[in-house]
Amino acid sequence: MADNRSGTDNLWDALYTQRAIRYFKPDPVPQELIWKVIEAGTRAPSGTNTQPWGFVVIQDAANRQRIAEKLRTQFASNPGMKAYVQQGKESADKTARLMMTGVESIVDRLDAAPVFIIPCLHNVGSPARDGLLAGSSIYQAVQNILVAARGLGLGTLMSTFQAGMAKELTEWLQLPPDTTPVALIPMGYPAANFGPVKRKPVEEVTHWETWGSSKERH
Ligand SMILES: Cc1cc2nc3c(=O)[nH]c(=O)nc-3n(C[C@H](O)[C@H](O)[C@H](O)COP(=O)(O)O)c2cc1C
Repeated sequence: MADNRSGTDNLWDALYTQRAIRYFKPDPVPQELIWKVIEAGTRAPSGTNTQPWGFVVIQDAANRQRIAEKLRTQFASNPGMKAYVQQGKESADKTARLMMTGVESIVDRLDAAPVFIIPCLHNVGSPARDGLLAGSSIYQAVQNILVAARGLGLGTLMSTFQAGMAKELTEWLQLPPDTTPVALIPMGYPAANFGPVKRKPVEEVTHWETWGSSKERH
């Protein structure tokens, strides 16, 4: 099967093929590319342009291992999650099987990725410290990071693995007050292909004037 792992400057290619990469090559990522990816993140909009964010980059092998080990322990002590993954691996649906095999692999070998990016909400202030409003001022930066990485031929995984280790990350990354990790993004050269991604057809999720009113696309 043809390999689809190189970068692209075409915005539409990047948008349509940016997908969750859960297998990484050990090759180091040049520093300049890490800067570029994060800089693209910082070009994202935020409420009143407050840019309530900081991005912690982890490359040190021991630091990555410590986080990876925490993820393994977290997963091993969550029977519900293990059962969910097992069920997915036995699904009749090939995409679900591949995804859950990938999830199991990344949980087992998170530190196979040479870089972790941990975006943090920082000094988000009022009105919304938590929830959708606060998230809306950082997840666009996260998406920019994913797409920019895709453009550079780097694989990423948008994960919420940070959620179960917020306390540890706060200590290990020496996060100041009012600083919350909102994602854990492993990044590296992909050992799996980029998309095309599988998504619902746009006609199914687009509602014209009122919910449920469809239109034919010409
Ligand atoms: C909010 C959010 C949380 C996610 N959390 C995880 C996660 O914790 N672990 C994981 O392996 N993938 C995670 N993903 C990746 C999704 O599973 C993946 O993007 C989705 O299944 C679509 O697959 P594709 O990107 O390969 O097309 C997350 C994605 C989003 C947007």
